[in-house]
Amino acid sequence: MKSKWSIVNSRWLIIFRQWTIDYQPLTITIIMASAISCSTKDSKFLQYYAQGEQLYVKHCSNCHQKSGKGLGRLYPPIASSDFIQNNFNETICLMKYGKQGVITVNTIDYNKPMPGVVGLTDLEVAEIATYIYNSWGHEKGLVGVLQTSSVLRTCQR
Ligand code: HEC
Repeated sequence: MKSKWSIVNSRWLIIFRQWTIDYQPLTITIIMASAISCSTKDSKFLQYYAQGEQLYVKHCSNCHQKSGKGLGRLYPPIASSDFIQNNFNETICLMKYGKQGVITVNTIDYNKPMPGVVGLTDLEVAEIATYIYNSWGHEKGLVGVLQTSSVLRTCQR
């Protein structure tokens, strides 16, 4: 016959097992969310972002505006642009090498050549990318310089 204690213990065991099964996804989500928020807020990210903002203001905001909203039908928006969400490599390339031909951003067509900013270093492109990919509704996290360099090597000039 089972003693009173072993019944109590096995009940707790069952409750505990059930808890870990029920709450496992929640626990994992909490751990991952805090890991992601810590890693995106780390100092490298902040440094890239801050540098990127300055470079954006200097090289890009004339046309795309500080708000990232673009200008009428002339300059497409970067804020909430589906183009940059779906075309990472092309976005990296066009900063440095420009772009021409029809481009569709958020269902609107634009067609005016964008001159590239040829003098940008790989690091500067990575910094601008970190800025635009984490502003105005975009939340991609750090765009590293190694990743950027390997994309830049593939650009058609
Ligand atoms: C002289 C004006 C001008 C400047 C400066 C400029 N752009 Fe553009 N940009 C354009 C135009 C015009 C297009 C549309 C090109 C086309 O029609 O093919 C464009 C397209 C884009 C696109 C793709 C469409 C979109 O809005 O998602 C991105 C991303 C972009 N530019 C980012 C930048 C960044 C980053 C810089 C700074 C490094 C920059 N641009 C500098 C005029 C400019």
